[in-house]
Amino acid sequence: MSQSLPLPPGPTESKFKQAMKMGTGIYDYLSECHAKYGDAFTLRFPGMDPLVWVASPEMAKDFFNLKPEQIDQRQLMIPIDIGDNQTGFLNNKEHQDSRKIMIPPLVATRLRDRAAVMHELTTRNINAMKPGDNFDMPRLIGDITLDIACFTLLGLKEGPKLQRYRELMLAWIGASTNDTMFTLGNLWGAPRFRSMLHRAYLKKTAKKDFGKGKKGWLPWSRSVELKAQLADLMRQEIHDVRASGDTTRTDLIATLSRATYDDGELLPEERIISESMGMLVGGHETSAATGAWFMLWLLKRPDVLKKMREEVLACVAQEGHFDPLKIVELPYLNACLNESQRLTPSAVGTMRHLVGETKIGPLTLPAKSNVLAGAYLIHRRKDVWGEDAEEFKPERWLSGIKPGPFEFFPFGGGRRACIGSNQARQQLRILFAEFARRVEFTSKFDSNDVWPGQRQVSGQTEPEGGVPVTVKKVWPENTGYPSPAVAQSA
Ligand code: HEM
Repeated sequence: MSQSLPLPPGPTESKFKQAMKMGTGIYDYLSECHAKYGDAFTLRFPGMDPLVWVASPEMAKDFFNLKPEQIDQRQLMIPIDIGDNQTGFLNNKEHQDSRKIMIPPLVATRLRDRAAVMHELTTRNINAMKPGDNFDMPRLIGDITLDIACFTLLGLKEGPKLQRYRELMLAWIGASTNDTMFTLGNLWGAPRFRSMLHRAYLKKTAKKDFGKGKKGWLPWSRSVELKAQLADLMRQEIHDVRASGDTTRTDLIATLSRATYDDGELLPEERIISESMGMLVGGHETSAATGAWFMLWLLKRPDVLKKMREEVLACVAQEGHFDPLKIVELPYLNACLNESQRLTPSAVGTMRHLVGETKIGPLTLPAKSNVLAGAYLIHRRKDVWGEDAEEFKPERWLSGIKPGPFEFFPFGGGRRACIGSNQARQQLRILFAEFARRVEFTSKFDSNDVWPGQRQVSGQTEPEGGVPVTVKKVWPENTGYPSPAVAQSA
């Protein structure tokens, strides 16, 4: 890092202490630093270049409008070997070309087709619940969204093949995103750590050495082995799609297996594997953490949950059934999800690594700086959201406010905005509409002001200790139709 330009001020306590505070209470620590140092401040952690946080819409605008050649996303601090060919790590033209290939399987028409299956998988999970069952909300949502991810990725809803994928995916995500791997990655430097893991994975794959299921003596052995096994299944899938010439499959892996570059060349297998792994990591913990905060708000605010339930019941009564495409349009449901993502975004900030000296608002930052646009901080600014900015008020979204892309960005923004945001929001709306209509949960958070701390899981912010809930009641599938009165008493 060039030392010629000063970085914004920041805490002077040790790097270790700063890292500890971020790890155990990121929302609180960011707020504390924002209040103390203003709209730009620098945090320092062991083994990492300094991180400059910016917290005003003006600076977020410059941040999201950075030109492709001004940033290097290979430096992203994600210590998971997704494969450096994945969209999130690519730069310049390679990145633009990749988005062109990745976005079609996630566009609105495909999502509309997938809504019924999202509902079917949600229903399957809810039907298996009974009073007295205990769940940790982020893990429950992670399980349901993993079912949806498997369908999006592979077109599978059931059967032994799905079970094998599911087991491997969960095991690989667990072995790759635990605290030990994140700590090692941070100490080693995330890009170097990823490369080391990737070389080990390629070596195993070349030798067709998929391990014996033992733990291995290196802390990352299991992660590498599981990735090799999962990738091998995916490779087989790619071969099958290409050999069959089947053009009817619309799942992501089949679409990518048939996709070509502009010159007509098929995508390399490793590229497809990276994108598939990226979808699993990108879509799993993010949805689990976002859903965990959303449930927490609903437990604390039974008045909001009641209103949401009434809106959903009115919709099913009108349609005569649960129509997922009508449900995802419900204004209050959407307002509630927006408000939860505003106050408690799972991605607290979005990062860019600067290639050269760069101006962001009034700042001139040195080359090789890591800059983060602080969604959590900007989402709570009183000059943007009003004096009640810190309050959970879904109604604010119904009064015609339209926050700009630099004021509300739970999915990042600009040329690199999340490509899965529509998929994620659609699945969360369907899931929470069904929770509201069909399941009554109780928890230690019911109707009180007890707020958990925050913990980091796979780079996402979740409530510390999860959100443990107990099922109190499960209403039948036809609740709300044909006659709400009959179903309510069932
Ligand atoms: C609630 C769930 C989700 C949240 C909160 C979330 C959040 C984010 C954020 C903050 C970014 C960074 C954007 C930026 O740098 O400006 C991102 C990027 C990305 N997300 Fe998501 N995401 C979610 C779900 C998903 C899903 C379901 C998928 C896959 C289908 C996905 C795939 C990606 C990819 C590929 C990128 C990299 C985009 C690029 O660099 O061009 N995400 N996401």
